[in-house]
Formats: sequence, structure tokens, C-alpha cells
Amino acid sequence: MSAGFKGMDVVSIRDFSREQIEHVLKLAEKMVPIAKGEERSVLLEGHVLGSLFYEPSTRTRLSFDAAMTRLGGRVLGFDQPAGASVAKGETLADTIRMVDSYSDVIVLRHPQEGAARLAAHFASRPIINAGDGAGQHPTQTMLDLFTIRKEKKKVEGNNVVIVGDLKYGRTVHSLSEALAMFGADLTFVAPPSLQIPKEHLKQIESLGRKPRISGSLEEVIKDADVLYVTRIQKERFPDPAEYQKVAGMYRIDLPMLKDVKRDLMIMHPLPRVGEISSEVDATEHAKYFDQAFNGVPVRMALLGLILGGLK
Ligand code: CP
Repeated sequence: MSAGFKGMDVVSIRDFSREQIEHVLKLAEKMVPIAKGEERSVLLEGHVLGSLFYEPSTRTRLSFDAAMTRLGGRVLGFDQPAGASVAKGETLADTIRMVDSYSDVIVLRHPQEGAARLAAHFASRPIINAGDGAGQHPTQTMLDLFTIRKEKKKVEGNNVVIVGDLKYGRTVHSLSEALAMFGADLTFVAPPSLQIPKEHLKQIESLGRKPRISGSLEEVIKDADVLYVTRIQKERFPDPAEYQKVAGMYRIDLPMLKDVKRDLMIMHPLPRVGEISSEVDATEHAKYFDQAFNGVPVRMALLGLILGGLK
């Protein structure tokens, strides 16, 4: 089931079939001991990853670095455009053309929605979208699915409640479509101004799912199998006053978890800025740090497939 992976761009979760995603997740399971440093691998020795981060990142950038390095490959790039010729006015197209000639695969995070698709147009090497504005974050989706499967054994049939900034949250855009593809039940909780955009709702409905829409977390949390919490994306609000109206609207703390299912799992793509109280970290529900680690084996599997080391 490796057909189509070698040299593939990863721009949107829509680029993948369910079977392809399942193949990535299956290979990722085998990568866990290498991701933990318990086993060694030279699978990607001699390969170079170009890592271009025009926006801040901790998990995505460092887990791609860890994935490539643990498989024997090397990483070059920048983690802030101020340190690159972007600061002198170089276009994305020209930067991509350059890094294309220095590396075998390019991981790109950029504030503009559509930047990864544009980069794929100018690159001969595969482009992996590490988040494009309020667009998509497909590799985050794969690690999210991996985490749900690990905890729940399957994705299908779980009631996944997604709360927070569903308008600007790119992780939600990719994940909700993938969850629909995998047959999960979806509940979207947000204030009306931050609800899931129609484009994604349409795609979800075209996959045969009928999501529930709510503004109240209290109303739906008792039925949740998975609670996926997201940060309000302050940096994407054109008007700071609009951000202030919704900041701090949803907060998960111990009283909020009083009547939840015993095996509710709480996820968050992180960083969190107050949406989940630190007292929740010690509960059995908290899975967000495991989730962040899972980015390493999942990105290893994906890099192995794209660069041709894995079948
Ligand atoms: N989940 C995620 O994208 O985190 P970073 O912004 O730290 O990469």
C-alpha cells in the first residue's frame, strides 16, 4: 500500500485516502522504539530535510527535526524569517527554489493560507505543509488520529467534541475532515463568530456525517469520548477587540470534568494558553503530551514513505 507516497506533496488531508492514512499510522507504530531512542535506524541516511518556518513552532518543527535525525538524516533551514533573506524581501517562490536545490524534502510553515500549495508549484522536491495560516495542518491530523487509535483502538464511532477556535484553527480544519472520513461522530463547540467554516462542514456532510453544532461545552461534554480543545488563534484576528470578546471563553478544569465519561480522552494540539487548567494534567483524561510525542513516529513514517525508504 505504498503506491503514490514516494515524492508526494502533503498539502491537505484531502490529498490522502483513508487507506493511505491507515498505512502511515501502521508504519508509525513500528517507528515508536526508534522515536524513543530505544532502537537505532539509518533509514534516511544521506537525505536532507529543508525546514522553513515563517511562523513560530515548538512541536511541529522539533518533531520533524527529531524524526529526520533519528532516522539518520540531516536538517537545514530557518526557524524565523528574520534570520533569512526573507527579511531582505525574497519571495516565497525564490526561497523555495533555493532550498529545493539543497534538500530532498521541504517542510514549510507559513502564515498565508495556500502557501504550501504555491510552494509545491515551485518545488521539484516534495513539500510538506506544516501549517499554512488558517488553512490546514495535515501531519498534525495524522498524529491526532494515531493518538485516538492508540487510546480507543479505533476512530470510528467515537463522539469527538471539538471546542475553541474552529474558524482560524487549521488543526481542526484537517482533523474534522479526516474524522468524518474515518466515521467518527462530530460535535463542534464555539461561539457563532468562531464556528467551523461552511467549506469544511460541506466536506464533512459529503462524507455522510451530520455534525452537531453547539455554543455550550457544558451541554455536550457528558457524551464525549474525545474532547479536542484548541487555542483561540489571537494572531489571526484582524481586530484585537474581536479577540478580547472570545478570549478565555472555554476553560477545562476539574469541576468541568465532574460528570464526563470515565474514559474521556482530552487532546490539544498545543500550545495551550489557559484553555486547559494544569490540574487536569494529572488526570487519566489528559493525553495532550502523549499526543505531541506521537508527532515523532508519525512524521518518521511519512518521511520514510515520501523519501522512498519505506514501502
Ligand atoms: N501543534 C502545533 O502545531 O504546535 P507548534 O505550533 O508548536 O508546532
